[in-house]
Amino acid sequence: MDIKQEIRRLLKERNAVLLAHNYMRDEVQEIADITGDSLGLSQEAARTDADVIVFCGVHFMAESASILSPGKTVILPRLDAGCPMADMVTVEGLLELKTKHPGVPVVTYVNSSAAVKAVSDICCTSANAVKVVNSLPDREVIFVPDRNLGQFVAKQSDKTFHYWDGYCPTHERLKADDVARLKAEHPDALFICHPECNPKVVALADHACSTSGMYDYCRTSPAKRFIIGTEAGILYRLRQENPDKEFILASPALFCPNMKLTSLEDVLDALTTLSPVVKVPEEIRVPAKRALDRMIAIPRD
Ligand code: 13P
Ligand code: SF4
Repeated sequence: MDIKQEIRRLLKERNAVLLAHNYMRDEVQEIADITGDSLGLSQEAARTDADVIVFCGVHFMAESASILSPGKTVILPRLDAGCPMADMVTVEGLLELKTKHPGVPVVTYVNSSAAVKAVSDICCTSANAVKVVNSLPDREVIFVPDRNLGQFVAKQSDKTFHYWDGYCPTHERLKADDVARLKAEHPDALFICHPECNPKVVALADHACSTSGMYDYCRTSPAKRFIIGTEAGILYRLRQENPDKEFILASPALFCPNMKLTSLEDVLDALTTLSPVVKVPEEIRVPAKRALDRMIAIPRD
């Protein structure tokens, strides 16, 4: 039996569901039950009736699944798959920022630890950040940890923002010059990027959205050629779903080493041993869930 068949067999035997983020290796996306963006995967983790969730993504995503589904076993095949942006904000640092702005709500991007979510008012993803911020009655918000997403949202809101100076090292590597050069080479192409990119890059975009938003946009757009400003893993499904369209990665530097760690062998090992398990302790889970639940209650477009 080949490795993919063995994974499928074990998934059935364990009553497990395999979730994979849109940046995962092609072969991992290929065997997943569900692929999606951070919002879609957290919604799925909240509603699945599987006993086991195998999360092919990075650590904060498995934590979110554990927060939302405490009765389930959540497995992250590679425990070393972290998110450098999530690690840029600490509970102590956030509490300090909160004391500087008393009473101002904290909007926390899901790319953050469970402990940081636990001291936040509401979470957001790149797919719903504008809606989340604008749903709040307050005139000011503290936005952590992504300064780039924060600035993207601030342009679509009349609130005053207090930022955290975090960023995604992968998206930050894409430079406005890379985009300008490709746009000059391919004048007919649309440039689509993730709001984690630097604001100078986002300013050049025809459209900026979450990873799943890119699938919808490219599928429905009449354009035939797209320059893509997000992690390379997105290309797998874009090309599969749009065989008549051309997708050009905006820079070879758009490669997240953490998202690429998980191999099929890791998934097989994880299903065989039912480990490594990610379990958020109750004293963090309960307040973190409040912030995630407030986000999930906001309908997706
Ligand atoms: P989305 O898939 O929610 O757009 O998130 C991008 C990301 O960087 C996840 O790590
Ligand atoms: Fe974190 Fe950026 Fe990698 Fe996403 S792409 S997991 S934000 S480092």
